Amino acid sequence: RFSVDRPFRDRTARMMLDLVVLDTVDSTNVEARRRAEADAPDGTLIQALTQTQGRGRRGRRWESPEGNLYMSLILRPDCSVAAGLGVTFVSAIAMCDTLAAIVPPMVDVAAKWPNDVLINGRKVAGILLESASGSSGRLKWLVVGLGVNIQSFPKSTEYPATSLNFEGAVNTSPTEVLGGFARYFKRWFDIWGDEGFTAIREAWLQRAAGVGEMVEVRLPDKIFTGRFLDLDESGSLIIELENGERRAVTTGDVFPSELI
Ligand code: BTN
Repeated sequence: RFSVDRPFRDRTARMMLDLVVLDTVDSTNVEARRRAEADAPDGTLIQALTQTQGRGRRGRRWESPEGNLYMSLILRPDCSVAAGLGVTFVSAIAMCDTLAAIVPPMVDVAAKWPNDVLINGRKVAGILLESASGSSGRLKWLVVGLGVNIQSFPKSTEYPATSLNFEGAVNTSPTEVLGGFARYFKRWFDIWGDEGFTAIREAWLQRAAGVGEMVEVRLPDKIFTGRFLDLDESGSLIIELENGERRAVTTGDVFPSELI
């Protein structure tokens, strides 16, 4: 449980970010992995203006033309791989808060399990977490990759996409989004370290789209529908099936019933 395995013991250990900006790269996540293996320090943040092989979850491509934000953060939290998954939710909360401060008032910004951010119900940002651990099961490094559609978005995705510009946030630059994210991420990362996953779970649920509503869960080998009830203490989605049975979902994609 995240709340037991706290990522940090020392409250004074505040994070410093060290920004590296690249013109183009295969993938900022791959670059971050290379640098993490070559001992890049905790807090190294790699941004690229374009990516030639941007990667999404579950082996998907992430289209990466100029004008959007592509960045990957190297972290070295002193915790287990399972507890490290909490960083996904820390990042999603931080990205929700960043984008909510940028879009016009009344525009709905929400989190979608496991690690997407939606504006007006369409995907504007995705998060890809990668890690390596030692024989002790502790994390050696963790890379949080974030892609944010600012000027453009892909038109033929399984889940409908959007961009900040399309939703009315004109003249937003990747640097502005990166700066906002860095500030909110530090804030929520400290809360995670101080209070454990319990506080993160609550904050994520407050921002989550469709709590209590019907969703379709698509796993690699099956599809089922149910009611989105909760997020548990390990970050799994709790779905109530039609027969009342509860199922914890640890992987897969979730679609609200109106999109099915
Ligand atoms: C997803 O929603 O499938 C996750 C998308 C993550 C995309 C970002 S863009 C920056 C970083 N580099 C990558 O190759 N992927 C992540």
